[in-house]
Amino acid sequence: MKLIVCKDYEEMSRKAAAMVVESISVAEEQLISFPGGETPLDMVKEFVEMVNAGTVDISRTRFVQLDEWVGLGDKDMGSCAQFIRINLLSNLKYPFLDFFLINGLADDIQKERVQLNEFIDRYGPLSLSVLGIGLNGHLGFNEDGVDFDSDAHIIPLSETTKQVMGKYFDRERTLEYGITQGIKQIMAAKKVILMASGEHKARILAKAFSGPVTNAVPASVLQRHDNCVVIADTDAAKEL
Ligand code: GLP
Repeated sequence: MKLIVCKDYEEMSRKAAAMVVESISVAEEQLISFPGGETPLDMVKEFVEMVNAGTVDISRTRFVQLDEWVGLGDKDMGSCAQFIRINLLSNLKYPFLDFFLINGLADDIQKERVQLNEFIDRYGPLSLSVLGIGLNGHLGFNEDGVDFDSDAHIIPLSETTKQVMGKYFDRERTLEYGITQGIKQIMAAKKVILMASGEHKARILAKAFSGPVTNAVPASVLQRHDNCVVIADTDAAKEL
């Protein structure tokens, strides 16, 4: 894993967006993936600006969403699909060749999982996977204890994830499951960018970066990826 430490969130976002653009520019057809959540927000905005300014051509690039809360659709506040629609897709002046958004409200969620796998099988492997890290080290919804040999799956949310979900949306009913690309698909990506911002991520980032590779800290698996860049602000990088 290569480490880039930035002075703050803004610099991290700018550099990550530049890396995404650079990665898209090197090949013909591409399949890229972004997460939802707080961390990638400004990176996505920077990326959109570069696309709209003509700095990068995404007409041969497909997009696939990383993960979603089972029970939330793209109209639901705080869903990953809503994040992608509002901040990315609807702001692009020039569209992606194609995209796949996960419908966490699908009547048949197993069918949705199969379709996510099919999209990645058809157009993948991923050229680029941009990731955030959860407080328990999750990647997407690959929660602690996940099978590293998994493709897209539906997984019970960890207690840690349930505790932090309140920052994304208010729900009377607690959500119990996530649907996510699997570790196998993330590890097959030609390039991985792991973003981390804020002091609250410092401990888990250090574990992922230099602790043992274990499914108790899913992000530690990235130590085995030969083209993974960790981009963090100084607060998140504090314990590295
Ligand atoms: C969320 C999402 C992940 C995200 C991670 C960190 O629960 N499932 O895709 O990367 O946790 O989120 P945040 O960037 O909001 O800290």
